[in-house]
Amino acid sequence: MSLKNPENAIRNQYANQGVEGYYREHGSDYTNPHFDQVRQLLIQNRQRIDYQSILDFSCGSGEVSQVIQELGYALPTASDPFTSAAYHEKFKQRCLDYSFQDVIKGQLEGQFSAIICSFAMHLCPPKDLFPLVFQLFQHTSRLVIITPHKRPELSKLSRVDLDFEDFCLTARGKKVRLRTYAATF
Ligand SMILES: C[S@@+](CC[C@H](N)C(=O)[O-])C[C@H]1O[C@@H](n2cnc3c(N)ncnc32)[C@H](O)[C@@H]1O
Repeated sequence: MSLKNPENAIRNQYANQGVEGYYREHGSDYTNPHFDQVRQLLIQNRQRIDYQSILDFSCGSGEVSQVIQELGYALPTASDPFTSAAYHEKFKQRCLDYSFQDVIKGQLEGQFSAIICSFAMHLCPPKDLFPLVFQLFQHTSRLVIITPHKRPELSKLSRVDLDFEDFCLTARGKKVRLRTYAATF
């Protein structure tokens, strides 16, 4: 992956292999080039988000889990359909393997103080966003999205409200945003 523009490099890979094909092949060696921004956002919002019992949804190599643990909390519950083996190897803790579709089918179990989905929900097809978010809100009252994009545009969904937003900048001056949502389902 090019270090000069990692976003373009990954976009090209998605175009060549498809999102699922890419993560099926590279899931075990994925790392987030914007980990510093993920960390900064989680730390600077620690008073506003309850990290007691979170779900690190589409956890990748555990970027969110790592920061939560560094902040002194227990390792979160984590889930990812393509990186669960790598997560288990790194943290020695079981990683669930729910895909967006599994969650939409109602397979997720448990209640969480917050569900944090970092750099991943933009990968969910727009038509599936509402059913996905509806299901996630059956398991938490706070959904936290970390994203370098405008997507996923959850505020456009009926009965999903932006609670607050924060951002920090990459070295190239690009915004990485943390958005917290609540729902009135
Ligand atoms: C860019 S990575 C982000 C990983 C990590 N959360 C982070 O902040 O770096 C996107 C993640 O979405 C996961 N993913 C891809 N397709 C998915 C799907 N259909 N359902 C759930 N997760 C998926 C990938 O396995 C990958 O770990």
